[in-house]
Amino acid sequence: MPEAELVVVVLAAGQGTRMKSNRPKVLHEIAGRPMLAHVLDSVAALAPDRVMVVLGPGMEEAAALTADHPRTETVVQAQRLGTGHAVAIAGAALGQARDAADVLVVCGDTPLLRPETLRAMVARRYQADAPDLLCLAFRPPHPNQYGRVVLDEDGGVRRIVEYADADESERANDLCNAGVVLGDGAVLFSLVGALGNDNAKREYYLTDVFALGAAAGRRSAVVEGDPEEVLGVNSQADRARAEEALHMRLLGRAMAEGVTLVDPTTVWLSADTRFGRDVVIEPAVYVGPGVSLGDGVRVRAFSYLEGVRVESGAVIGPFARLRPGSVIGPDARVGNFVEVKNAVLGAGAKANHLSYVGDTAVGERANIGAGTITCNYDGIAKHRTEIGVGAFIGSNTALVAPVRVGDRAIVGAGSTITRDVAADALAVARGEQREVPKGAARFRARRGGRKAVAKTATKTAAKTAAGGKKAAEATPAKKSAAKKAASKKTAAKKTASKKTAPKKKTASKKTASKTTMASNKAAAKKAGAKRAAGTKQAAAGKRRAASQSGARGRKRR
Ligand code: UD1
Ligand code: CA
Repeated sequence: MPEAELVVVVLAAGQGTRMKSNRPKVLHEIAGRPMLAHVLDSVAALAPDRVMVVLGPGMEEAAALTADHPRTETVVQAQRLGTGHAVAIAGAALGQARDAADVLVVCGDTPLLRPETLRAMVARRYQADAPDLLCLAFRPPHPNQYGRVVLDEDGGVRRIVEYADADESERANDLCNAGVVLGDGAVLFSLVGALGNDNAKREYYLTDVFALGAAAGRRSAVVEGDPEEVLGVNSQADRARAEEALHMRLLGRAMAEGVTLVDPTTVWLSADTRFGRDVVIEPAVYVGPGVSLGDGVRVRAFSYLEGVRVESGAVIGPFARLRPGSVIGPDARVGNFVEVKNAVLGAGAKANHLSYVGDTAVGERANIGAGTITCNYDGIAKHRTEIGVGAFIGSNTALVAPVRVGDRAIVGAGSTITRDVAADALAVARGEQREVPKGAARFRARRGGRKAVAKTATKTAAKTAAGGKKAAEATPAKKSAAKKAASKKTAAKKTASKKTAPKKKTASKKTASKTTMASNKAAAKKAGAKRAAGTKQAAAGKRRAASQSGARGRKRR
């Protein structure tokens, strides 16, 4: 018997109420890819003639996933009346051609289903007894809420009982329905047309085609699959189980391809991660979607990669972050605390420490010093930075994009580069360094002298010094005005410090307050309160003069 055309129906319209999420269930991700994408990939491996995906209303995001798959269409099931109803909707969309084909129905919520298993079902249909209907079954350790497959004495399917409709004895049967059905198109769709909804959920169950088929004398059979592979995701806990299972599968596959995973279970891989030969991945590495690691690449611990091509011999991390749109050239280095986004690093280029390289093209062998930032965003738009072949960017450089540093150019450390740097040029853009001989010693002496003075007085002096500096720079006419302003400030501060004085007293030690009281008494005895105030003012004036001369001194140098 020659094989008929193969039409696949993917059921993905369900709301997934048990996920407790606003996101349609089939868009929840496993290994960084929506569940539906995994199913579409497995289906595509069979090279079917047509694929019809049944979606719910408003599931545009899911529909977009079909764009990468040839001969794949979508149809909307406006009301979710059950899996049987969904297949009927698909049948209507497929038209007459479906009757001559073999029709395979898979669910969008079984993301681990392997193409090999689907092929085994197709092969079973072409064995001598040529069953009209096939069901994929499995025996899970915990059958939970799966539908139960009831066999007849010949091993055919007598019926499938949904968990909600099953009694104790039926639930004790551990042969479960995986939700995959293969059948002769004409047979399957005629049976689907006869489905009713007289059951616990008031739904049109696809599973009922087996009982209807048995009654009509149709032959059926079961193909048994691996429980892990047919795991149906209905809840967040199921999703996590699927994630773990796929995770182990991906790790196994990577190791089978020769990847050294130093501590496999701490590494997270995506379904589409690609490896060259002799790739080494250290512990605690996250490899998100869209990553390829070339021959001999080493990804060091605690690195986070997504949407990046890392070419042969490159070393990433530890603690590196590679973001989408990036290409790390052969033998390039991206070291600790370096973030690379939408950037291409040429062969042998290095960014070893603490940098942000975004929207950038880095030439071969260029060296990006620690703390370099490409300032790619001006608050409105993103701009590009270009760094030439063999260029050297000194540490702590800000490259304000759009900007270009020519081949072999050198940028001095600490520069803020706002204009293009020509090839072979040396650019330095930073404040010039000045040196004051013995300045440190003088500074300390000055500070030391003030140590005895109360905190408030120090503040006053600093302010006066600032005013004094301005005064020193001013014309003689302005000078006197500045002086007046300065003395006014001092007066104001004095009143302020008088106000705070009582508070201070309570806080200070008894001995200190005793001394103050003693000296106050002595001062009162000597010349009275007025004269004491005069002495204070004189002292403030002295300090002012000292700091003014300091300011002038600084200016002279
Ligand atoms: C279904 C099976 C059950 C099996 C289990 C395996 C039926 C009636 N039951 O139960 O025997 O053990 O899968 O995982 O088939 N869907 C639609 N439209 C609808 C309803 C569902 O497209 O109106 C889609 C869902 O999006 C989902 C798939 O069909 O991808 C299965 O539906 P779900 O509600 O998850 O069925 P289960 O209760 O898991
Ligand atoms: Ca399900």
